Amino acid sequence: MVDKAVETLTEAEARAELARLADAIAAANTAYHTLDAPQITDADYDALKRRNAAIEARFPGLKRSDSPSDQIGGAVAEGFGKIAHRVRMLSLENAFAAEEVAEFDDRVRRFLGFSGAVSYTAEPKIDGLSLSLRYEDGRLVQAATRGDGEVGENVTENARTIADIPQRLTGAPQVLEVRGEVYMSHADFAALNQRQAALGDKSFANPRNAAAGSLRQLDARITAARPLRFFAYSWGDHSAPLAATQYEAILRLNALGFQTNSLTVLCDGPEAMLSHYRLIEAQRATLGYDIDGVVYKVNDLALQARLGFRSSTPRWAIAHKFPAELAWTELLGTDIQVGRTGALSPVARLRPVTVGGVVVQNATLHNEDYIAGRDSRGAEIRGGKDIRIGDWVQVYRAGDVIPKVADVDLSRRKIDAQPYVFPTECPECGSPAHREEGDSVRRCTGGLICPAQAVERLKHFVSRGAFDIEGLGAKQVEMFFRDATLPVRTPADIFTLSARDAANPLQKLKNREGFGEVSATKLFAAIEARRTIPLDRLLFSLGIRHVGEVAAGLLARHYTTWEAFEAAITQATPGTPEWAELISINGVGEVMAQSLVDAFQNPAERAAIDALAAQLAIQPVQVRGQVDSPVAGLTVVFTGSLEKMTRAEAKARAEAMGAKVAGSVSAKTDLLVAGPGAGSKAKDAERLGVRIIDEDAWLRLIGDA
Ligand code: IVH
Repeated sequence: MVDKAVETLTEAEARAELARLADAIAAANTAYHTLDAPQITDADYDALKRRNAAIEARFPGLKRSDSPSDQIGGAVAEGFGKIAHRVRMLSLENAFAAEEVAEFDDRVRRFLGFSGAVSYTAEPKIDGLSLSLRYEDGRLVQAATRGDGEVGENVTENARTIADIPQRLTGAPQVLEVRGEVYMSHADFAALNQRQAALGDKSFANPRNAAAGSLRQLDARITAARPLRFFAYSWGDHSAPLAATQYEAILRLNALGFQTNSLTVLCDGPEAMLSHYRLIEAQRATLGYDIDGVVYKVNDLALQARLGFRSSTPRWAIAHKFPAELAWTELLGTDIQVGRTGALSPVARLRPVTVGGVVVQNATLHNEDYIAGRDSRGAEIRGGKDIRIGDWVQVYRAGDVIPKVADVDLSRRKIDAQPYVFPTECPECGSPAHREEGDSVRRCTGGLICPAQAVERLKHFVSRGAFDIEGLGAKQVEMFFRDATLPVRTPADIFTLSARDAANPLQKLKNREGFGEVSATKLFAAIEARRTIPLDRLLFSLGIRHVGEVAAGLLARHYTTWEAFEAAITQATPGTPEWAELISINGVGEVMAQSLVDAFQNPAERAAIDALAAQLAIQPVQVRGQVDSPVAGLTVVFTGSLEKMTRAEAKARAEAMGAKVAGSVSAKTDLLVAGPGAGSKAKDAERLGVRIIDEDAWLRLIGDA
């Protein structure tokens, strides 16, 4: 273990760690999914995600609104048409240790309220990229990559060139989306790289990158020349069920003409699953293609349907990953990066080393305690070994993202190596950098006066999930930020850019290097197009700590208009009704609430927000949910014991039908579902005049009885 054990983290450390993990995972996702250029190994990535999930499990209240556990992959690359998946393409929860597999089985049985055994399929996890193939009347009509899980890239023409993908199906449901993994075999990968080298073209780091690079070619003729393969393992939209079980559905896909993995077996519980894992692991090196773990899925499809999904992963499946790869290299130096929220993050500059097929040159060092070999309370981590420049360090990667330093080889330490002295001033603005009590992260106190924070906030502001202004990316933001003629220092400045340029007859943007009449006009038009912005996007764009995309959505759906939101947050200090309402929103905790209130009360921040709002037409949000569901939009509270399903299942069902499930009764509650033994919540509901129904009435209401 290199990181401080999750069990020993203080709340403040956990919070800081979750923030760090969210950043690291986001960076890794972009590198991997959008740029096809992973910076860290899969094992490293998985370790990040796993640690994040472990911390969230221990401190559920600290779960970030932009938690990586709720997100799937990267965003759609430019250049391909977009396809909205009719059924979302999900990601899988990861397990590493055998105990986690047993826990998965326990969770499944608990959720279903089963005491007996559940059977599962076990199959290799193919290390490629997922693809969804839509067949209508037996013809392949569309192929889409996963993208962010909701919207993928249209790669239909490319998919048609893959021999394993049938163009026609006989005897399939009228509509059938077949999902699976595009991959490249080891032999084909080696031959492709040889050809690339002979032609003087760039070679690929590993078969997965080669497969991704080959599928995502704008010219399908290039894809056709690449030896891609496809394994089917799942399905999306379908007009009739394929079978009653996962195993039979796979047999059916095979009978329809798809390659399915021959190492797919049925298991009657965790022991059998683990023994199949060991069998697959033993064959890993000789399979001829990359796999990075074993996937277990609940076999009975009716149970899968009952188990349903969390925000981005199914409850009925888990990926049991193989362990991470490690390598030793020299630490050449330590840089300090200042992030959007002022966090000073030390980054190791490494002598380049290959870890799991990817060249690693940077690794995170987390924070000053991590470098010093202790936690914020002084307890030892990594056996108390500190990390010094010039040391030989062991690096590892566990997934798609940022590598980490696992260990230090003291026997190779130079005699004059000095302990690293962590700066107590921001290297960017010179403001004092403070640590809050119990927090392992040191933060620059400069706020918006710190150029690093200001520019990082602007980059966030124009990023994809935020304002996403075409032609105004991180690079242009850096440029305008430092510009003397047309400076952009705060988000509001973006919306005055065109007017300021028009008012300056001498130094027009179009006359600048890197710009022209067309690009300047286009940029101004793109900015203008974003002047009208939905409330949820605006809230995410503000870059307020702890308010990520998911939280922004929750807040926007709750308050619906900017005016209502702004008035509420301005009033909301602990103890007020506005505060109570804010924290009653499912998914909004005190930490996030405080962060919002702080931002709105800080004069400089508030001025920047007001100036921005004055430039915009902020659209109220449409409340999502199944419009035809009788409970869509209702806030429901469950209390007492339920007899037909577990509490977890009831909550999941209600949410899937568009209801909000709250933990306590307030004036905003629409419905209390009370089982036997209901106590204070029923009294609260009576007092507030909230409608109370029993479980059977609830089931009738949602059409289940
Ligand atoms: S099932 C709803 N089975 O792993 C679950 N996924 O980490 C759908 N993958 O996005 C996925 N082999 O790209 C499944 N045998 C397998 C897989 C597999 C590889 C990939 C897939 C998925 C990712 C999740």
